Amino acid sequence: MITLALSKGRIFEETLPLLKAAGIQVLEDPETSRKLILGTNSPDVRVVLVRASDVPTYVQHGGADLGVVGRDVLIEHGVDGMYQPLDLNIARCRMSVAVRDDFDYAAAVKQGSRIRVATKYTEIARQHFADKGVHVDLIKLYGSMELAPLTGLADAIVDLVSTGNTLRANHLVEVEHIMEISSRLVVNQAALKLKREPLRRMIDAFASAIQA
Ligand code: ATP
Ligand code: PRP
Repeated sequence: MITLALSKGRIFEETLPLLKAAGIQVLEDPETSRKLILGTNSPDVRVVLVRASDVPTYVQHGGADLGVVGRDVLIEHGVDGMYQPLDLNIARCRMSVAVRDDFDYAAAVKQGSRIRVATKYTEIARQHFADKGVHVDLIKLYGSMELAPLTGLADAIVDLVSTGNTLRANHLVEVEHIMEISSRLVVNQAALKLKREPLRRMIDAFASAIQA
């Protein structure tokens, strides 16, 4: 049995065409079913539905043989015990620094002021500001980062941006681009040895289906 860990929503939806290329069809729709283990048309392949931030934990500890996870989550979590054979080029967005449109970020950086930064991505933020030599106080949040500058909790946020609609709707502007984000295939290292043939076939099928 091969177990693939996916999160509901965009990663599930964007992985479906890759699975199809490998000849695999998921038999249930996670949006309508309450099941957490989904069968496929292949009796030897199943999909487990986990939170996006739990995918690396499942793969690392062998709860799943492989999974699909954002680069953001992977950097925050660490990659011990996993191979990352493919960038799947799905769930594409960017990690950015954003501030209120009336906050002079460049001046704050120039003055060397301590900047309060709210984010779910503390490791990415820590590395980014350390590289720039900017002093920051990091405030860990689990969601709705956009609210932090509007309520005075923080001066800036580090968050994912795709269309920019969320920032615009909250009178925030992007002031720094930290990195491009897409989702990767991650594979448990022990599973790759024990189930080499079926995993290799799946990795190869995914590789040939990746869109440029
Ligand atoms: P969790 O449920 O664990 O809190 P999450 O809510 O961030 O995670 P999703 O919103 O499903 O989970 O996002 C999954 C991945 O998709 C993210 O890790 C990121 O790599 C990517 N992503 C997030 N937002 C966007 C977006 N607006 N456009 C494109 N890709 C995105
Ligand atoms: C992510 C992210 C931003 C938003 C950015 O949230 O945390 O809030 O997407 O996307 P945008 O630039 O296109 O507005 P979330 O996963 O909640 O976004 P969703 O609304 O697409 O689910």
